[in-house]
Amino acid sequence: MLDMILLCLIIFQIHQKSLNRVEKIINKKVIFEKGDLRDIDVLKNLFTKYKFDSVIHFAGLKAVGESVSNPLKYYDNNVNGTLKLLEVISLFGCKKIVFSSSATVYDEVDAANYIPLSEQNKTGKTTNPYGTSKYMIERILEDLYVSDNSFQIAILRYFNPVGAHESGTIGEDPNGIPNNLMPFIAQTAVGKREFLSVFGGDYDTHDGTGVRDYIHVVDLAIAHIKAIEYLNKSATKPLVVNIGTGKGYSVLDMVKSFSKASGVEIPYKISQRRAGDIAKCYAKPSFAKEILGWEAKKTLEDMCVDSWRWQKENPFGYKQTDC
Ligand code: WQD
Repeated sequence: MLDMILLCLIIFQIHQKSLNRVEKIINKKVIFEKGDLRDIDVLKNLFTKYKFDSVIHFAGLKAVGESVSNPLKYYDNNVNGTLKLLEVISLFGCKKIVFSSSATVYDEVDAANYIPLSEQNKTGKTTNPYGTSKYMIERILEDLYVSDNSFQIAILRYFNPVGAHESGTIGEDPNGIPNNLMPFIAQTAVGKREFLSVFGGDYDTHDGTGVRDYIHVVDLAIAHIKAIEYLNKSATKPLVVNIGTGKGYSVLDMVKSFSKASGVEIPYKISQRRAGDIAKCYAKPSFAKEILGWEAKKTLEDMCVDSWRWQKENPFGYKQTDC
């Protein structure tokens, strides 16, 4: 029996090279099957071929700005894909699931007034379709549990995942122009982008730029293991947990920290606010510690040093060249 399944993405390609490198790090073979989550036959074949113990559902589109301009793509990919997955999970009786949710599910008014955000804060009135798609999936999972309480569900609300594996061999390789801050800064540092556009310099924050709770991807990965361990020993209603550090850093804090880690000056220009953005968002992370025994260990410096190592050693991501 496999311990778990990593369901890979629908529309994004996964780079074969990244899997080869994962195998090298863990010194184990990784079984990988490529398919579209919205295709129920693909899923049925997968669940027939393998016997899974748990499902970690990472698959989804995640760019806030793109979701504002193309909401249907987000609802189809994220919500429709999840419905198909849950249908097949129910059919095959593999009912232990960890879902990648997001800090963007928090209600816009609560996010503006109650910082740090705790799991008790209101959700639902989000500022963008990406957040709404994650909120809808949370509701679907909760309703599913009401209908059948043999489901074991953990909902992890990610704040802002950044960084790379410390080996420098696996990291973020966005298609085209990065939507997220950290890969954009890294590509500017390595000379692929001329300058960083800072989206808004007039927010109500310590330096006018947006504040977020950046979390190292390795800390984030460990949180999933803790969540599976928790589900293995507890049969309870869906667990909802913030996965963040509890510290808020502004865009300019990130620029400074990355410059320090890389020794490269990052040129930037303050530009217009981006649609769907809020001023501040950071977690109250204490529940994760209490219930999962998990807390973030890596610092902002670790995040920048590891991102820079990855970017510098792989300037074209997993490709050999940029063409
Ligand atoms: C961070 C800050 C931007 C790019 C993310 C993920 C999403 C979700 C929640 C988990 C903001 C500013 C950005 C740039 C900038 N996480 N920025 N120039 O929007 O907080 O959303 O967190 O589900 O997956 O997308 O992250 O990295 O896009 O932006 O000034 O070129 O950087 O305005 O203040 P965001 P981000």
